Amino acid sequence: MTKIRIAIQKSGRLNEDSLQILKDCGISIDNGKDQLKASSRNFPMEVFYLRNGDIPQYLRDGVVDIAIIGENVLIEKGEDISIAEKLGFSKCKVSLAVPKSFKYSSVKDFEGKRIATSYPNTVINYLKDKGVTADLHIISGSVEIAPNIGLADAICDIVSSGSTLFKNNLKEVEVMLTSEAVLAVSPKISEERKELLAKLQFRIQSVLRARG
Ligand code: PRP
Ligand code: MG
Repeated sequence: MTKIRIAIQKSGRLNEDSLQILKDCGISIDNGKDQLKASSRNFPMEVFYLRNGDIPQYLRDGVVDIAIIGENVLIEKGEDISIAEKLGFSKCKVSLAVPKSFKYSSVKDFEGKRIATSYPNTVINYLKDKGVTADLHIISGSVEIAPNIGLADAICDIVSSGSTLFKNNLKEVEVMLTSEAVLAVSPKISEERKELLAKLQFRIQSVLRARG
């Protein structure tokens, strides 16, 4: 039997809410938390638990058919991948922040500054649009510590509650984009699996309507 292959964040903020929406769709997944792959008992679906940043490439290659992923990750490295549904959870911003003591007046203040980030394309495009050139330091996590250890003058990262910025004595000065979880689709999905996707979307839409 053909199954639709869905990628879900392995660990992190989207993981629980992603599994919850499948559950609300009446799809039960059998899994040990440590398994990287699981199947559903009552829907032709296989679930792959993957690292967020790897998901766009898996979609592009057609190794998975669909994914629940932050829109921000697609903007950063999957602009060629289409979105079937916005899912309304895991809302966040991708923002530029500077130390609280920095007297910030405009985006021009980033000219020549060192910015630590895991979202280089997003930052470069945003600043280019404003005619600003900065020096990027690409790191994969714990970005907010960079100014405190002298690695950067500013950071660009996800802001949700704002508590990570606050704890690191930083202030948000530019919101580059807002994001939420989306259902993304591989450009290589087969016709047969498109039918399964349509069934899943039908269920997701009624769950989202019920959530209001
Ligand atoms: C994420 C993100 C921010 C923080 C934002 O980090 O990179 O640092 O959450 O959330 P907040 O505004 O609610 O504090 P995460 O904790 O996932 O760790 P990582 O950066 O090491 O991946
Ligand atoms: Mg972080």
